[in-house]
Amino acid sequence: MEHRLWGGRFSEPTAAEMRRFNDSFRFDRRLAEVDITGSIAWASALAQAGLISEVEHAELVRGLELVRAEFANGTFVAIESDEDIHTAVERRLRELIGDAALKLHTGRSRNDQVATDMRLYTIGIARQLDRRLRDLQLALLTQAEQHADTLMPGYTHLQRAQPITFGHWCLAYIEMFARDRSRLRDAIARMRVLPLGAGALAGNSLGVERERLTELLDEFDELAANSLDAVSDRDFVAETLFACALTGIHLSRLAEDVILYASSEFGFVELADAYSTGSSLMPQKKNPDSMELLRGKSGRLLGNLVALLTVLKGLPLTYNKDMQEDKEPLFDSFDTLDLGLQVAAAAIATMTVRRERMAAALDDAMLATDLADELVRRGVPFRVAHGKAGQLVQRAIALGTSLRHLPLSEYQAVEPSLDASIYAVFDMAHSVAQKASYGGTAPQRVREQCARWHEILEEE
Ligand code: ARG
Repeated sequence: MEHRLWGGRFSEPTAAEMRRFNDSFRFDRRLAEVDITGSIAWASALAQAGLISEVEHAELVRGLELVRAEFANGTFVAIESDEDIHTAVERRLRELIGDAALKLHTGRSRNDQVATDMRLYTIGIARQLDRRLRDLQLALLTQAEQHADTLMPGYTHLQRAQPITFGHWCLAYIEMFARDRSRLRDAIARMRVLPLGAGALAGNSLGVERERLTELLDEFDELAANSLDAVSDRDFVAETLFACALTGIHLSRLAEDVILYASSEFGFVELADAYSTGSSLMPQKKNPDSMELLRGKSGRLLGNLVALLTVLKGLPLTYNKDMQEDKEPLFDSFDTLDLGLQVAAAAIATMTVRRERMAAALDDAMLATDLADELVRRGVPFRVAHGKAGQLVQRAIALGTSLRHLPLSEYQAVEPSLDASIYAVFDMAHSVAQKASYGGTAPQRVREQCARWHEILEEE
């Protein structure tokens, strides 16, 4: 009879394909570190409850540290019966320390164990993603500082709208990634609730004091208050997957901007060779693959979130094996984002900004709003001013010229009070400098925001 943790009541072995279907070790082995940390705390709680002797406790800790080392240095050898990480650790522990290992699982179930492992692991990856997002923010900040007064067209509907600064564009993404980081931190705060000691579902009856466990496991500051919920809850995985998905969507929008800006038609930026690839057929091609992949991988981040929510949707309380399906989406989203954020930060940091191409894309029509605003300053009600500026744009188009080159007589035909001073409006830098409201694109405001972000990011 094969060695399975629960083999006692079975008289037939698990079918080979069932084993392949059921076993999770090939993907949950990455929980080894947190699983062992949880087990060491559990052993200590068992000793405190008098369920194991101090000698047994010391043996368990020694053995668990040996298993931890094997995972860390890559010498752990899996065997057929290693159903999941919990089983594998316990099997190896027994080989290393003998029968003392038989007491480790006293009062504990894999249900509270895996819920604890997943929380610990998810806290760790959320922290790492938070750091990676900070690196990306820093890359954007460096570009923002260098381009606080680099003029470019701002778009709505992908139509030229009003002049902005490239620094302001960079800061927009810094804001989005700041919210993503704060979502990860919010999720972490809710993850710090400990399920261990909830048993299979009903609690443990052997007198293990759960309070002690939160002292031993620094990451937790509260006990799960309901054992049924403790073993069933995967909200924290869903929340993390949501934070990852939305980060992916922000990255995708950033990528789409850069892809457009890197095209010959825009020519605003050029990605470094290191973050581009070529064509096997067309020798001239330099493709923004780093950005296309960032855009594309947002699909799987979103898919992983939907996959988990779908798994959880109809589950009865409490633990069901369906919940083992929480792991691959989480691990995949983490791996995808962990690497994607590194690529994004480096690609942004090494991107060349073509000020002259950005400037050349500015046209006078983008100052039609400034023209209307100037009429407002001269006493024309805004709605009327909007109409007059629109008429002037129409005249310029009809005459095949631009607002700046439209004769004064045309301006006076629309608004008799105007004189040549109206042409002062047609200054892109002036237009941008006037957007000096808090959060506006004026270079002075952009520099203030850069300084603010510098301070925030340096402090962390
Ligand atoms: N590998 C399982 C999981 O990830 C561990 C919990 C198994 N518990 C059980 N009663 N079968 O969910």
